[in-house]
Amino acid sequence: MFIADIVGQPGRRAVKELLPGLRQKHGLDLVIANGENAAGGSGITVKTAEEIFSAGVDVMTCGDHLWDQKEVIELLEKEKRFVRPANYPAGTPGQGSTLFSKNGFAPVGILNLQGRTFMAALENPFPCALAEIDRLKQSAKIIFVDFHAEATSEKVALARYLDGKVSAVIGTHTHVQTADEQIFPGGTAFLCDGGFTGPHESVIGREIEPIIKRFITNIPQKFEVAKGRVLLQGAVVEIDGASGKALAIQRVSEPLIEPAV
Ligand SMILES: [Fe+2]
Ligand SMILES: [Fe+2]
Repeated sequence: MFIADIVGQPGRRAVKELLPGLRQKHGLDLVIANGENAAGGSGITVKTAEEIFSAGVDVMTCGDHLWDQKEVIELLEKEKRFVRPANYPAGTPGQGSTLFSKNGFAPVGILNLQGRTFMAALENPFPCALAEIDRLKQSAKIIFVDFHAEATSEKVALARYLDGKVSAVIGTHTHVQTADEQIFPGGTAFLCDGGFTGPHESVIGREIEPIIKRFITNIPQKFEVAKGRVLLQGAVVEIDGASGKALAIQRVSEPLIEPAV
């Protein structure tokens, strides 16, 4: 399973409360989550990462909010389960991909990439993806890609480019779940954007009013993480361990039912 961008405390709470049930319901072997908004909506800290790992997430990816919390450096330097976009310039701390293995299961390569359209000018993710996949293929038949990008065209193009080379490409960053889940002819599962895990009575996870005000006035506002209607979003992908090809992909948008106060 892939869990799309976990936003702040409500997002972490959703993972904690809903993941055990989802693990059981879908028979999940591996859970990957994007954690770029885990700490107060901006970036990730050691403590928030630990909270998410202990809730049952096996590997975490990131994105353009990577540097928002300065202690991320500790995760980048020490945490084997934490992956940042691979197309940051050479010499950037941390890893762009990792291998996940556990007893009785085929090893899985997890690759994180960031888009360049309407985003910071990182290295080109297309050749970077090929190089990383070649390396991962030496140890794993199953490869999962979190492509953190703004433009739908860039996401579809990269996923089509990687069709047959990886098991799944799921997009993140826009925080709006798309309804285009499919398996390409080469056997790669695809979803343009997984959405986000957090409060949906919001503008992509933040309080509504300050965002509207910012669009009207252009005056910077404090964007607090919203509270209401928490959903855990992402997708479950079924992969054939022998071939590494995807067999099925299903979107997930699971409400967190909170006790009435
Ligand atoms: Fe995000
Ligand atoms: Fe992002």
